[in-house]
Amino acid sequence: MIRQAIIPLAGLGTRLLPITSVFPKELLLINGKPGIEYILDECIDAGIKEIVFIISKKKELIKRYFNNDQFYQKIIKKKKDSRLKNEYKKILKYKNMIRFVYQNNPKGTGDAVLKAKNIIKDKFFLMLLPDDLIIKRNCSKDMVSLHNKKKCSIMASMIVSKKTISRWGIYSKKSLIDKKNFYIKDVIEKPSIKTAPSNNAVIGRYILPKKIFSKLNKQKKGKGGEIHITDAIRNLIRDGELFIGHTFKGKYLDCGTMNGYIKSSQEISKI
Ligand code: G1P
Repeated sequence: MIRQAIIPLAGLGTRLLPITSVFPKELLLINGKPGIEYILDECIDAGIKEIVFIISKKKELIKRYFNNDQFYQKIIKKKKDSRLKNEYKKILKYKNMIRFVYQNNPKGTGDAVLKAKNIIKDKFFLMLLPDDLIIKRNCSKDMVSLHNKKKCSIMASMIVSKKTISRWGIYSKKSLIDKKNFYIKDVIEKPSIKTAPSNNAVIGRYILPKKIFSKLNKQKKGKGGEIHITDAIRNLIRDGELFIGHTFKGKYLDCGTMNGYIKSSQEISKI
């Protein structure tokens, strides 16, 4: 069973500057709803019971957003507005599931995940990158049900155009399981077009084993001087850990860039 999820939220959001110099990108509205709530709803619907937010001092607004009880209680007393009551109920539901952990010096996704080491209880957990929205189908839920059958680690996969290969983690496949799933032979963070073994890219949904923390403890800096989760996964695969690549069914939206962010509101408003 997968009961806990980690969401790294300490990233600087440089691709969405200047607004991210003062405001966390994860709270920006996507079709009228903060982006992070789509990710939370995906987790809840996938059966997750506890969510670890990795934030930083610079992103404390996220914590405030979920911990503003006094404000709601006062305004609800005064206004008796049923919309507000429902919004507060929803926020309370989220709040009761979230734990906050700090990564004040953003050194990469691997380093962010390592901060949750002492909180993760079970053998496997879910990790979601909040820039990656997947709509029309719950990718996490599909991965959890695949995990329940196969009992191994799983990562989301999508075919990308060759031109963009150096922006992604890229898989090398070992063997096919079925049309949607394959065993992973290797995974390389942001390779060049020349060295990329395929055009199957890692998308930000991972079911990872608790064992990864011992790899992350020793993980050296990789591409761009960051500690990448991809490099720790690569080391686990080398040790014989089974990883599946899951080609998800929904539509992918990249909310970490301005174009993708604008497009995501348009796409969601059509549903
Ligand atoms: C991260 C991962 C990369 C993955 C991508 C998906 O990169 O390191 O392997 O393909 O997310 O969005 P980032 O977007 O942080 O550069």
